[in-house]
Amino acid sequence: MSRVLSIASGKGGVGKTTVVSNLGAVLTEAGKNVTLVDGNLTTANLSMHLGIPLYPVTLHDVLKDDAMMPEAMYVHPSGVKVVPSGLGIDDMEGTDSRNLPLAIDELMGDTEMVLLDTPAGLGQETISTIEASDEMLLVTHPNMPSLTDVLKTKNLAEDMGVDVIGAVINYHTGSREELNEQEVSDMLDGLPIVAKIPYDKKVPEAVAMKKPVVHHDPHTPASKAFRELATEITAEELDLNYGKKGILSRLAGFFKV
Ligand SMILES: Nc1ncnc2c1ncn2[C@@H]1O[C@H](COP(=O)(O)OP(=O)(O)OP(=O)(O)O)[C@@H](O)[C@H]1O
Ligand SMILES: [Mg+2]
Repeated sequence: MSRVLSIASGKGGVGKTTVVSNLGAVLTEAGKNVTLVDGNLTTANLSMHLGIPLYPVTLHDVLKDDAMMPEAMYVHPSGVKVVPSGLGIDDMEGTDSRNLPLAIDELMGDTEMVLLDTPAGLGQETISTIEASDEMLLVTHPNMPSLTDVLKTKNLAEDMGVDVIGAVINYHTGSREELNEQEVSDMLDGLPIVAKIPYDKKVPEAVAMKKPVVHHDPHTPASKAFRELATEITAEELDLNYGKKGILSRLAGFFKV
């Protein structure tokens, strides 16, 4: 059965889209059939994190009843399947986010897992992404303003019957001002912390290059943390043998010459 997992926060800019693109890239590389959907309709940017060119049919067209989900699906050269949203202000005209759950339903059966990027705040767009979800993963910085906002999202999602499976602490630096893992979990009523993604300058570097950091630099600390997150989410041993794969494929290339 397909899982629909939304990646949500409360506060903007905490790393939701970064988590979606990297988790999607790792799971795809491990052979999982995942589809990334940009549910951030007003300020969409998943396609920019992945370097997807302007795409003629987007989620906005599906929500306007002008297209079906398979028409809006883009297969990235890395194999990651993405349903991008439109980037222009005109895309919003006539778009009804309340159609999102039905649009996501169209993917059921064709994909093992949908990773749904969500907007910041608790407006109708966010509510539509919650309605479309079975499960939710929260992303927060280890500080009070971020946690105060994410707690509201958690409570709303639980009231709406969504299973909030855990929280990702992003931008972890280990500085004294930061809340520790236990404090973050306590603030979220004992929610498990499924990953701690370190602050890593390779992440903005990868975003600038329109690549997930796990592709840009598989060995940097953030990439390792994203692979651990993927293992936690699937509760499986994943085939994530990056370093060796690189050497083997380089050797294979050498012998072909
Ligand atoms: N672990 C990290 N280390 C360093 N920079 C990071 C990290 N995670 C995210 N960033 C940077 O933070 C910025 C915001 O990340 P991102 O776009 O994923 O946030 P968001 O929650 O999706 O934002 P929005 O609410 O606007 O959709 C990006 O420029 C990204 O490069
Ligand atoms: Mg985002």
